[in-house]
Amino acid sequence: MSESTPAIGRPLLDYIVENFAQPERELLHRMWRRAQQAGLPHIMIAPEQARALAILVKAAGVRRALDVGTLFGYSAANLALALGPRGRVVSIEVDARHAEVARANLEELGLAQRVEVICAPALEAMQRMDGDAFELLLVDADKANYANYMEEGVRLVKDGGLMAFDNVFAFGSLLDKPKENEDPDVAAIRAFNVRLARHPKIQATILPIGDGLGVGVVNKAPLLHKP
Ligand SMILES: C[S@@+](CC[C@H](N)C(=O)[O-])C[C@H]1O[C@@H](n2cnc3c(N)ncnc32)[C@H](O)[C@@H]1O
Repeated sequence: MSESTPAIGRPLLDYIVENFAQPERELLHRMWRRAQQAGLPHIMIAPEQARALAILVKAAGVRRALDVGTLFGYSAANLALALGPRGRVVSIEVDARHAEVARANLEELGLAQRVEVICAPALEAMQRMDGDAFELLLVDADKANYANYMEEGVRLVKDGGLMAFDNVFAFGSLLDKPKENEDPDVAAIRAFNVRLARHPKIQATILPIGDGLGVGVVNKAPLLHKP
């Protein structure tokens, strides 16, 4: 959920996207057509984040990826393309209409065999999965559950695998003074970032692209140098 709140200024962002994420931008335009007609929101990961994730997928030799929050299938499609024909993506979406649009988009792109869209609340679906089933987890769904997705992720992602979390700049509000009637999603992200930074089994950082992409490597043996 990133395109409208870039962490860097618009000119630098445009430079990066024009020079380093054109295919991802074109794919977004293509997939957005059906989503717009169906009245879905324009809150997917940003093209420059899609490119960064593709690089991580390839560098880490990811074969199976778990995508939490499908919407119209943009992040799932990008992951599937990065994984290649032998890779598999499982994408979880609670909203049946979103899942339907995503499935139609993935079918049109010839990616339906590579992406399984599960229509269910993500945490429940994750709790039913076997451990160590994935090498990468991407989280971009309800912010209140980010910490829960992270904990399930430590079980579901293999040792040395990757996790990524969109919107860790809290829609640009991360460093605003907390106010009384704060958006609960902003408060959830603030609390989540503290847990991510201190998690004994995740070595993490934030890539300042899109609305902030938290990324981490899972270390099943607890890290010793954490505070
Ligand atoms: C920001 S959008 C995902 C965008 C997508 N990752 C992309 O970049 O193309 C968030 C999605 O998460 C879904 N969602 C919200 N809460 C959820 C939950 N508890 N379980 C599964 N999906 C959920 C929403 O319906 C929405 O489609």
